[in-house]
Amino acid sequence: MLSGVWFLSVLTVAGILQTESRKTAKDICKIRCLCEEKENVLNINCENKGFTTVSLLQPPQYRIYQLFLNGNLLTRLYPNEFVNYSNAVTLHLGNNGLQEIRPGAFSGLKTLKRLHLNNNKLEVLREDTFLGLESLEYLQADYNYISTIEAGAFSKLNKLKVLILNDNLLLSLPSNVFRFVLLTHLDLRGNRLKVMPFAGVLEHIGGIMEIQLEENPWNCTCDLLPLKAWLDTITVFVGEIVCETPFRLHGKDVTQLTRQDLCPRKHHHHHH
Ligand SMILES: *[C@@H]1O[C@H](CO)[C@@H](O)[C@H](O)[C@H]1NC(C)=O
Ligand SMILES: *[C@@H]1O[C@H](CO)[C@@H](O)[C@H](O)[C@H]1NC(C)=O
Repeated sequence: MLSGVWFLSVLTVAGILQTESRKTAKDICKIRCLCEEKENVLNINCENKGFTTVSLLQPPQYRIYQLFLNGNLLTRLYPNEFVNYSNAVTLHLGNNGLQEIRPGAFSGLKTLKRLHLNNNKLEVLREDTFLGLESLEYLQADYNYISTIEAGAFSKLNKLKVLILNDNLLLSLPSNVFRFVLLTHLDLRGNRLKVMPFAGVLEHIGGIMEIQLEENPWNCTCDLLPLKAWLDTITVFVGEIVCETPFRLHGKDVTQLTRQDLCPRKHHHHHH
């Protein structure tokens, strides 16, 4: 009893905020993070707080906000991690050592427009990784170890416009991966791409405004003709596409090469 009285008086001294009610004890803005209004959007800054989960914190319920969680320890995202963050429009998860996103981790983020997953340890983008992100327009996942993207990974992200995947380990893109999205910007620099087919890939990004393909080990053979032909039809910004192989074309810019350079015709005498 005596200790109870002592506890209450400490709370009183500590101030009104903390004695207000038990319900606010987990309020993200009052306990751990700096919340600031900027241009009608609340910025919730929880960078570098050592968080391993945020599901137990309570974000503001009637405000639109951007949530900055960079530099925490969110190595795994479990189902419903963000189920109470339904008013987030931007979510920054860079530099978390993030390795795994379980299905349903982003459930409830119905109004999220921008998701930043850069500088993590992701290896795969699965069909169910982005479940629930129906308003997503901008997805940044550069500087990970992504070597696999499942064909349906973006198929429910019908509003997706910008996809940033540079500096990963992509060897190829699965067929039809962009079939249900209308991308305006695509960054694939610094991957392991050797070839990019028309069927199933290029045919679905006709509306692109900017595409970056530099720093891939392009294999300049007949298989690259569709990419070269496609580049000739678009008028948008494309970074330099330099051949890695074969040896005779090493270092050459694809756009400077002729069809004959890429795909020398065999001399079948009976055709002449
Ligand atoms: C979301 O918030 C409700 C109400 O504050 C709480 O009961 C529930 O546990 C929270 N969900 C998660 C996954 O923590
Ligand atoms: C480049 O493509 C050719 C023709 O498809 C293939 O034979 C060769 O192994 C490829 N080279 C590399 C380095 O992948």
